[in-house]
Amino acid sequence: MSERLTKSAARNIFYGGTIFFLVIFLGLTLQSHNYIVTTSTNEDELTASVVAGKHIWERNACINCHTLLGEGAYFAPELGNVWVRYGGKEDPEGARDSLKAWMQSQPSGIEGRRQMPQFNLSDQELDELVDFLKWTSEINTQGWPPNEAG
Ligand code: HEC
Repeated sequence: MSERLTKSAARNIFYGGTIFFLVIFLGLTLQSHNYIVTTSTNEDELTASVVAGKHIWERNACINCHTLLGEGAYFAPELGNVWVRYGGKEDPEGARDSLKAWMQSQPSGIEGRRQMPQFNLSDQELDELVDFLKWTSEINTQGWPPNEAG
């Protein structure tokens, strides 16, 4: 073997290394995609109502004040776990009613307290939003956000 790296050896290392890491990269991408659709999200429960709820969430820019799973603005509470915090696991009907009543009764007008606007949503829209928040709360986030308040 020669002392110096020959041109062809350098080329082989370049192509070999490129292909090797490309294969690893593609493998990890496929693994992440597979994990997202089969394990971390409950795709089978993605009903038309959940999808409609997400569109209402987007149209009204709820994320301009709230975070959802840690992403968003920090003016208002985290909502990724609001379904659980309202007792949705123990009493789904009660949690649904409380969440809808909360949204309908805003703004609270309490002095010194941050205010949420009134969005004048229909009963069906509120139900769809609750379905979306319930679905979101069931995503496996591996413990994120790290505390209940988000
Ligand atoms: C202008 C800012 C703002 C926007 C936009 C906004 N909210 Fe809020 N929201 C708040 C604030 C502030 C609170 C907390 C008020 C309080 O505690 O009195 C709140 C509280 C809530 C709560 C109760 C959270 C809890 O932990 O008790 C829910 C549910 C909620 N918002 C849903 C929504 C939804 C759904 C949308 C979009 C349709 C939305 N919010 C848009 C400001 C906003």
